[in-house]
Amino acid sequence: MSAMNLRSMKISLYTNDLFDAPVDFLGILAFEDEPDRGLLFAQVNRTLGGALEQAARDERFEGKVGQSLVFNNSTGVIKARRVMVFGAGPKAGYGPHIARTFTGLVARKAMQVQAKKVAVQLVVPDGPSDPARVLDVIKSYGEGAVLGAYRFDLYRTREPVPASLEEVLVAFVAEDVIGLTGAQLRSSLLEGRTFGEAATVARTLVDEPPNVLNPDTFAERARRLAKDHHLACRVLGPRELERQGMELLLGVCRGSAFDPRLVHLTYTPEASKTRGRRPVIALVGKGLTFDAGGLSLKTNEGMVDMKIDMGGAASVLGAMLAIADLKPDCEVHGMMGIAENMPDGRAIRPGDVIKSKAGTTVEIMNTDAEGRLVLADVLAYAQDQGVTDIIDVATLTGACVVALGPLTAGAFVNDEAMALDMQKAWSISGERFWRMPLEQDLRKQLESRVADLKNVGDRYGGAITAALFLETFIEKGKVRWAHLDVAGPVYASEERNLYGRGGTGFGVRTLIEYVKLRGAQVLEDPDTGASS
Ligand code: BES
Ligand code: ZN
Ligand code: ZN
Repeated sequence: MSAMNLRSMKISLYTNDLFDAPVDFLGILAFEDEPDRGLLFAQVNRTLGGALEQAARDERFEGKVGQSLVFNNSTGVIKARRVMVFGAGPKAGYGPHIARTFTGLVARKAMQVQAKKVAVQLVVPDGPSDPARVLDVIKSYGEGAVLGAYRFDLYRTREPVPASLEEVLVAFVAEDVIGLTGAQLRSSLLEGRTFGEAATVARTLVDEPPNVLNPDTFAERARRLAKDHHLACRVLGPRELERQGMELLLGVCRGSAFDPRLVHLTYTPEASKTRGRRPVIALVGKGLTFDAGGLSLKTNEGMVDMKIDMGGAASVLGAMLAIADLKPDCEVHGMMGIAENMPDGRAIRPGDVIKSKAGTTVEIMNTDAEGRLVLADVLAYAQDQGVTDIIDVATLTGACVVALGPLTAGAFVNDEAMALDMQKAWSISGERFWRMPLEQDLRKQLESRVADLKNVGDRYGGAITAALFLETFIEKGKVRWAHLDVAGPVYASEERNLYGRGGTGFGVRTLIEYVKLRGAQVLEDPDTGASS
């Protein structure tokens, strides 16, 4: 039983008549403000003798974003037994994000009715035909198909387990892809699939129960996946962590029956391709395979979902695998601090003072604020490797969920150029982030009477003081740093659009997009100040 043997879903382009596609489920979309709900809907409706429009009216389907309608078809003029109509909203708003949700919801609904083969019609944005925009939409189809088909049913033995989706065909008409070669279309579709599969890796890890996924098994899975994707992998255990002086990471795991790990993956581009000085990017993940709170024990209600507390590390791991496959032009490191936060006679106590890898001493006020302790040591480790950019991803604070709700992550960035690049990355991925302030005036909340720093601030501004704590461990002016607090969106407690309940893989696609666009930049030469 292995969740990690991802068998790639078949996904291909289909050039013949959509209605003849040998599938059991067909997905089309409808716009809310187009005559006859758009050309595609009108065409399918005509073929079905007006029955689709009738069904839409009966179901009060208006074409608003996210609405959907499944129509049973036995006419034979369309091969698929079921036709799903997806509400795409107003035509002017159509683009990669709607396209992703469309394909994703088609895949999800198809699986719910045991369909194995699905066809969707490619719809391109309005306006002057721009090949790059068409490719962006096709990539979204690839992402959506994989995201929508995700399921986690490893531990269901009783109910009949539904079949997996085997194949997705993306049908298109030639005039929509003018100026593009078949190879370009295919490569965008498969790139999208790679993005989706990276999210699948993260989601699976988040969904695994904490008795299965502990620091030891997390590291072993990372090692195996790294090997499959030809990434260099180094796993540091307790002795090496001691040698490195990572007392905070060790401290957090002291109450656990397991030893902590630091998983360090490295992607190195082929030397021949790199010209000029390139960024070196570190992706750093918080990997608490379970967060009971330690001696500052959580309530059962607060603890029940805390297997998700390795979501940041899972996103980093997923992103690294895609990066290995996509081969960007810069070096990328994935560094994950893996631990379990449990109460025990040997656990760290409120009042303890612990020395970090960087030398800073920390007074522990609350053992449940453990993520920042783990990250502080991993951030110091990352800077020892001489990186230019660091992005950490962490389910760090409940306060961030209170501030932004469950769908949006907080982004704290210490550099304006990096903030722009991050914004570009998340506007492409469609993942929701909101920039948060590194409000220096709150720093005094972290002053300790006995040590350099306390690990928690006051009641208000908890997401900000957590970020300020991390910022202490970033060398000023040396490295671009972004901290992503993903405590809300890594996990969906109810189904929404293309996502079911459970891990969402949030962050994975933004990380990959960032590496893609940042990896193409050439840095100024530090000696001459000139770009080479
Ligand atoms: N892992 C939690 C944060 C969290 C909360 C993630 C809810 C996902 C959903 C983190 O380690 C934690 O417990 N933070 C405390 C910090 C507090 C003690 C300052 C919190 O948010 O309550
Ligand atoms: Zn905690
Ligand atoms: Zn935690």
